[in-house]
Amino acid sequence: MPVLDDLPTPALLLDLDRLEHNLQAMADRCRRLGVELRPHLKTHKCVEVAERQRALGARGVTVSTLYEAHVFGDHGFTDITWAFPVPLGSIADARRLAERVTLRLFADGPEAVDALEASGFPFHVWLKIDCGYHRAGLDPSAPATLALARRVARSRTLHFDGLATHSGHAYNAVGCDSIRSVAETERRTVADLRGRLAAEGIAVSASIGSTPAMSCVEHLDGVQEARPGNYVFYDAMQLALGACGPADPAVTVLASVVSSQPGASHCVVDAGALALSKDAGHPGPAPTMGHIYGDYAVGDLLEDAHLTALSQEHGKVSTRLPVGTRVRILPNHSCLTVACFDEYHVVRGETAVDRWRIWRGRERTGPPVAASSC
Ligand SMILES: Cc1ncc(COP(=O)(O)O)c(C=O)c1O
Repeated sequence: MPVLDDLPTPALLLDLDRLEHNLQAMADRCRRLGVELRPHLKTHKCVEVAERQRALGARGVTVSTLYEAHVFGDHGFTDITWAFPVPLGSIADARRLAERVTLRLFADGPEAVDALEASGFPFHVWLKIDCGYHRAGLDPSAPATLALARRVARSRTLHFDGLATHSGHAYNAVGCDSIRSVAETERRTVADLRGRLAAEGIAVSASIGSTPAMSCVEHLDGVQEARPGNYVFYDAMQLALGACGPADPAVTVLASVVSSQPGASHCVVDAGALALSKDAGHPGPAPTMGHIYGDYAVGDLLEDAHLTALSQEHGKVSTRLPVGTRVRILPNHSCLTVACFDEYHVVRGETAVDRWRIWRGRERTGPPVAASSC
């Protein structure tokens, strides 16, 4: 089996021990908090990882595109939530998938509910509620939100699954105390609204999600389900937030120094924006385009070398290293980094033990795929 030194660079490394640890820890945490785990697969886009989540008790899965929904439907996942405001032009395609798996859709306005009802198909619907992130979602205090919920509940065609929130603004908080307060507001917002509906005889579930919130929240009373995604890998952002430690991230980019000019104070590696993404990460006191591990096995990050700038294929490192040096980079945002690659090199220690496909397409074309890894 190849060792890391044999791999061509840039290569996306997935550390199996770390992955298994992160999967188990979140499964245990959800159990302790009394909620079902419906992991968001947008982070890894990988059948082999999703199968491990299912084996650990995940109740259904969450995806962010209809392409992902089709891929995981094709690979035997039969309960899929598409956690994105349903585009009206995708309803016909969604219906084709919903005829063979349980597909749950997000709506956050009357237009989507109208279109779903007009389709005549018994879609499962979650109403997306804004818990303070202010990206998408219905205002939980608006009378129109209650009116829409009553309408979905009384619909003769639609199944009203519940109320869903996403605390993306937990990424603006730093430290577990402030993340916990965002998480508690999210919990209270959705549990209160669920309670008001229950008082009218409308019994639905509440689903929340975000890795920082799930890492710090203390209790989830009134909530039935959680949809964290990033926890499988973590990254520099989660590290800066305090949602993980430096020995937790499971995904790194292996790169080689390709240019190191005499007299320069920097060098260049073969991992640029198309390997790491341009995500600027946490805007803290020490901004970086990527940390570099000195010793990945113990979670030791170099203090005197990090990525300062990325162009398409070039990554600029803050110090001069000899050409040929291989570095292991902790990306700012693992979800976007993964989407730059076609496959993971799955590693245990220094040995590459497997290669797993990343289903990063966007448009669905052609017949269903055979259920195999690459
Ligand atoms: C609707 C929704 N739910 C859940 C998640 C998972 O959040 P995280 O990646 O922080 O775990 C996301 C992430 O963007 C999301 O958009």
